[in-house]
Amino acid sequence: MTATGREWWRDAVVYQIYIRSFADGNGDGVGDIDGIRSRLPYLVALGVDAIWITPWYPSPLVDGGYDVADYRDIHPSFGTLADAKALLDDAHGLGLRVIADIVPNHTSDRHAWFVEALAAEPGSPARSRYLFRDGPDGGSAPPNDWRSAFGGPAWTRVTEPDGRPGQWYLHLFAPEQPDLDWINPEVRAEFESILRFWFELGVDGFRIDVASALAKSPALPDLGYSDAENGGAMLMPWDRDDHPHWDVEAVHDIYRDWREIGDGYDGRMFVAEAIVGPPDRLAPYVRRDTLHTAFNFAFMHAPWDAAALRSVIDDTLGALGAVGAPAIWLLSSHDETRHLTRYGRADTRVQGLARERVQPVDLELGERRARAALLLMLALPGGAYLYQGEELGLRQVENLPDDALQDPAWTRSGGDVRGRDGCRVPIPWSGQEPPFGFGPPGSTPWLPQPAEWRVFTAEAEADDPGSMLALYREALRTRRDQPGFAGEPFRWLDAPGDVLHFERGAGLRCAVNFAAEPFALPVEGRVLLASTPLAGRVLEQDTAAWFTAGA
Ligand code: NOJ
Repeated sequence: MTATGREWWRDAVVYQIYIRSFADGNGDGVGDIDGIRSRLPYLVALGVDAIWITPWYPSPLVDGGYDVADYRDIHPSFGTLADAKALLDDAHGLGLRVIADIVPNHTSDRHAWFVEALAAEPGSPARSRYLFRDGPDGGSAPPNDWRSAFGGPAWTRVTEPDGRPGQWYLHLFAPEQPDLDWINPEVRAEFESILRFWFELGVDGFRIDVASALAKSPALPDLGYSDAENGGAMLMPWDRDDHPHWDVEAVHDIYRDWREIGDGYDGRMFVAEAIVGPPDRLAPYVRRDTLHTAFNFAFMHAPWDAAALRSVIDDTLGALGAVGAPAIWLLSSHDETRHLTRYGRADTRVQGLARERVQPVDLELGERRARAALLLMLALPGGAYLYQGEELGLRQVENLPDDALQDPAWTRSGGDVRGRDGCRVPIPWSGQEPPFGFGPPGSTPWLPQPAEWRVFTAEAEADDPGSMLALYREALRTRRDQPGFAGEPFRWLDAPGDVLHFERGAGLRCAVNFAAEPFALPVEGRVLLASTPLAGRVLEQDTAAWFTAGA
């Protein structure tokens, strides 16, 4: 609870730290816990309530840490458990909460359980923690037609301990990320114990990786999609009710147990990464006896279009309001093209890992829209997640050299899809040249930073009132100070179709103009903040403003 008696996670602004790329304390080119600790004052000044740190566990980093080898320790290049504890203490001392990332759908292939499974016999208890199956046709074909999110089949055949080709194991992501079998009680017990381990260390919550994938239809039936229907066969569509591995009903039982565990510790929470299509599919994840919150991907995936955004907002508030859960808005993450770049394209939708291609972009337009989108997002009731660097106006780095790319999607697609490295380029903090304060002078960040980022450093933007950083700070300060932002009630106000105009809480109003035709703000009311300087009380195209209802 907060001092006002509200549960903090209902309207928190959470800052996502992609640990490898945030701040490098030891100069090895990779971000780490010491780096995060050194930047906590920056996050306090920015005005966020909490941080979410992407996986920090020991890992071969085949998928940026989403391949966990040991869930109860810290990767040596990120620090130690003692460092993690020190970070939690520092953050709490500064009034910031800390959300860790739990990866329960799959482990790394270097996890002790998988090593044991490979050495064990088919049918053994060690194998039953994962999804090992015999293939048809004498074992030579995969057990079904499921595809990996990173390209290629979702099955890999193992060599049995006696040297013969043997069973297949399921991996919805890379082959180095074998899926666990959540029907197995040992798997459930192990993760419950992992949750307790970190709650006891002091984490305030967990972001749950691919939360909608854990349960599978027990018979593992074929999906029956052709490659053509599947848009190149990378990410499977999840928009069907009987999908055998996305959003299977049994998944909610797991989270009922997790909620009970979380409720045993004061003020802890979960946020689900559940990519489930329309918001009414999200509601079951956030009922009062399941998880607290879930990312609203429908909002993030929507194009820059008034009608599309309005309908996502309505559907979200309707579906989640019905189960008493807050909406959680976000515009970017470590998995998608940075929204500033996306909003500068002809097609402004998220196209997803599967289909993302470098496209012509108008970055000035993208920046204008990104500024307006921030005010839209932060005016909506609920919580919001910011992705590191968006507050600096970072854009997608679309020209990373091929040999720098590390996303498994790049190799798994045979170089067809460049993957997500372009949104993971290390943060520019200060100075005129790389590493821009990301690490000590002379260190080499794990992905190259563009020379032009000298104008996007936190240092360069700090004292520039027109910078993206200034807008984020001002927006977060206003959101904290204005009582209107504390209220849940939401209603649309009159406006032309290409304008989003609404009132939230006690008299807090927001308007966003998508049309070429300027939109005149009501004559009463005080303007609190505008995404770009206003000429009079008129909103030009792709701008937004916050204002009060009364005088
Ligand atoms: C979602 C994570 O955000 C992404 O980065 C990762 O590749 C997949 N889950 C697999 O863990």
